[in-house]
Amino acid sequence: MCGIVGYVGHRQALDVVVGGLRRLEYRGYDSTGVGVLDGDRIAWAKKAGKLTNLDAVLETAPLPASTTGIGHTRWATHGGPTDANAHPHLSPDERLAVVHNGIIENFIALREELEDAGYEFSSETDTEVVVLLLHRELQRQPDFVEAVRAVCRRLEGAFTLVFADAQSPGVVVGARRNSPLVVGRGDGENFLGSDVAAFIDYTAEAIELGQDQVVTITPDSVEVTDFHGAPAETTTYTVDWDVSAAEKGGYRWYMLKEIEEQPKAVADTLLGRLDPDGQLQLDEMRLSDDELRDIDKIIIIACGTASYAGLVAKYAIEHWTRIPCEVELASEFRYRDPIIDRSTLVVAISQSGETMDTLMAIRYARQQRARVLSICNTNGSTIPRESDAVIYTHAGPEVAVASTKGFLSQVVACYLLGLYLAQIKGTKYGDEIDVVIRELQRIPEGIQRMIDEGEQVRKLAAELVDRTSFLFLGRHVGYPVALEGALKLKELAYVHAEGFAAGELKHGPIALVEDGLPMFVIVPPRARDQLQEKIVSNIQEVRARGAHTIVLVEDGDDTVLPFADVVIRLPKVPTLLQPLVATVPLQIFACELAEQLGHDVDQPRNLAKSVTVE
Ligand code: G6P
Repeated sequence: MCGIVGYVGHRQALDVVVGGLRRLEYRGYDSTGVGVLDGDRIAWAKKAGKLTNLDAVLETAPLPASTTGIGHTRWATHGGPTDANAHPHLSPDERLAVVHNGIIENFIALREELEDAGYEFSSETDTEVVVLLLHRELQRQPDFVEAVRAVCRRLEGAFTLVFADAQSPGVVVGARRNSPLVVGRGDGENFLGSDVAAFIDYTAEAIELGQDQVVTITPDSVEVTDFHGAPAETTTYTVDWDVSAAEKGGYRWYMLKEIEEQPKAVADTLLGRLDPDGQLQLDEMRLSDDELRDIDKIIIIACGTASYAGLVAKYAIEHWTRIPCEVELASEFRYRDPIIDRSTLVVAISQSGETMDTLMAIRYARQQRARVLSICNTNGSTIPRESDAVIYTHAGPEVAVASTKGFLSQVVACYLLGLYLAQIKGTKYGDEIDVVIRELQRIPEGIQRMIDEGEQVRKLAAELVDRTSFLFLGRHVGYPVALEGALKLKELAYVHAEGFAAGELKHGPIALVEDGLPMFVIVPPRARDQLQEKIVSNIQEVRARGAHTIVLVEDGDDTVLPFADVVIRLPKVPTLLQPLVATVPLQIFACELAEQLGHDVDQPRNLAKSVTVE
């Protein structure tokens, strides 16, 4: 949520910063802005709307050449998405500029204090207090970095800040508390970014920053301290994404590319998990087998699509491990006084590793002495850093706001965790685990088939483009698939879409059924005859009331044919793995419907990929 870039070096800062913003735009696209050093002031440009609007401004009024610059792409919190509220925010003399991600919780008190001191505000943002505090601080003492630290000490809430000072050429200062900030180390140049995508075109060497740290970059140095100036240790790592992984690569949308990358994302997440004796091993597992054997309860916490991955995983984890497993929205978890202790394993699922609700929930869990394991796609991000253990999904960068390969790889990583726990607790025999692993290893083929057969779904989207309401029905692991199918449609096509557990149909949702209502139904494999039979009855019930039934059913199951208006065939896979194939046509459907409706598939309105405010 909000993307931030800072640059010092030998290149044109404006090009680097705008390029970085282009890569970070998925974090928010309500407005964009840049600032570069220009003599004794900061030259700036900012514009409401997407980056293309700023491009147009810069074309008519280019900024001067400079090798020091900062930039911002905004997801609005305080103050609407206007030019005035766009970042950077500047001091009255335009000597200082700041960009910000997060929320300054005590900004009202600070604003009053500054107004009493004679400052005037030109925006409705919480951010402007920061640059004005810095302006005032620099009148008390001349050191730019020390003044930034002093300002940070006064701020409450979550923030990543990046500052430029016209009187400090070749210096950019960043600070973070809770919100993300990463340093990119180059040769004679250095970068700051909300994530590595900001500088991946120039360097793969990154430095993680901890909580409450201030970083000062110059072309040749990176210095990190805490908010009081004490030097801090840093960890450098190499980013294993190449630039092409973050490019559209000829696809019309990132989402299409990411849907097609799913076979690889799943295969890569499974890669290297077996030792030579065929035992499951999780390299990044920092909890000992003894600690894991003590676990008597699992609580999965996550937001959005990641929470649906958790809902799928619950069925498998309980089945394999016999450990009770709850799934909870991260935003609800810490406010309900959950019963957790040292023998609870809290599993946080987050593609970005930065979702604020999830981060706050794991902090709470650790305070209660629970063990925390995260499932994450982003190396060096905050959630895995603050967890006791991590299992990385190896999906590569996910840029489209609506998660696709993130979801499938999260389900797979959760399954690996479930199988690992079953192995060390002995709730499944080794050969039973082998069978599941082998089935999982075959799943990329099934996903590929669903992608190859996407044309059927695309045609369906064209036929249903004028519908304004869709229902999704599933049972067992098909239920979270129904929720995910509906979420994708809401996110991308802005239509009413709801997912239900099929068993709940007669307890309310059936009242929504009217003539022609499109209803997707995910039918469990025939091997689960009880489940399968029940859902076939549900299909008949809604069909009899006029629903247009779109039935996702495995090869060879013809029992539904008399009641299905459209049949989408799924490969025959074990029940617990069916979500990995059944979700794919629903993703393609949502993507195509949004495209047909003329929406921006990658950047749906009002959304942001990385939600770094609560
Ligand atoms: C946002 C994104 C979703 C994502 C959710 C959780 O809402 O738009 O696609 O599922 O955040 O994100 P995380 O990075 O924690 O998986």
